[in-house]
Amino acid sequence: MRPLAFFLDLHPTLGDFHDDIIEGLAKEQKSISPKYFYDERGSELFKEITEQPEYYPTRTERNILLANAPEIAAAPGPNTAVFEYGSGASEKIEWLLNGLDRPAAYVAMDISRDFLIDAASAIADKFDLPVAAVCADFHGHVRIPPDILPEPSRWLGYFPGSTIGNMTPPFAARFLQRAAETLGPGAQFLLGVDLEKDTSVLNAAYNDAAGVTAAFNLNLLTRMQRELGAQLGMEDFEHRAFYNEEACRIEMHLRAKERTTISLDGREFSFDPGETLHTENSYKYSINRLKALFEETPWRLETVWTDENQWFAACLLSNN
Ligand code: AVJ
Repeated sequence: MRPLAFFLDLHPTLGDFHDDIIEGLAKEQKSISPKYFYDERGSELFKEITEQPEYYPTRTERNILLANAPEIAAAPGPNTAVFEYGSGASEKIEWLLNGLDRPAAYVAMDISRDFLIDAASAIADKFDLPVAAVCADFHGHVRIPPDILPEPSRWLGYFPGSTIGNMTPPFAARFLQRAAETLGPGAQFLLGVDLEKDTSVLNAAYNDAAGVTAAFNLNLLTRMQRELGAQLGMEDFEHRAFYNEEACRIEMHLRAKERTTISLDGREFSFDPGETLHTENSYKYSINRLKALFEETPWRLETVWTDENQWFAACLLSNN
């Protein structure tokens, strides 16, 4: 394996599942961050979700990017360095590195340390360019170590998959603000965002008939049992996902069918019948609300590519 140009570990707080779940279960509306979905099993289940017929975002985004690949990859010009947010298995980067004109470097950022090093190393083996990795979450400010990578003409942030939809709009604005600081003046940013659409399409995408999204949501309870020794009745909870029109977001919850309790560390967290643990938000945007979001950041919207149904948007932003 070709070595990475650098590995920057900002020690994201993934180890705090225990503390975060205790804090989340003590809240009036019980809640936990969706970042805890992605253990090994959760990552497998997410991949399976993306293959379900009802779950349109992944394939719609892929079709938009591939249909417009030459134009998108030409936009940043030669000698661009790419910084991918939430690189995961680095599966969505190859078309871009292949299309760019002599890309200067690739930096993969992800919260999952092991996954990250393997995935970045695989890209280093496949592409003749400096590859580096940053282990961090979306909360922190990342400063790219100076003088290690060759000076690129500009940085291109790449954040596909509508993962930005997990953030509340104010948090998304802060995230984009920090990305502008990380990537510097003259940078561009390619952002994938899921768009508002018919509620029935949205609800179906998060309630697939095969029950994969349900298994993905319920896997959090399995993690609590296995990793934290929580005592709970798996069969007391059910998957619930619905579009909240007022907030413009899909909400996922684990809902108690009966009165039940979760015991953890000698503490008892009781659920009334129908009470929920809120596990995820997935915000959906209109183009106008996207523009309003970008207005609060240094980024200007250059181009939007979309599909024939306008279900998903690939946005090119620039920080000039
Ligand atoms: C990875 C945040 C884009 O919100 O659609 C899929 C995660 N959750 N089904 C999404 C998810 C349930 C997904 N994102």
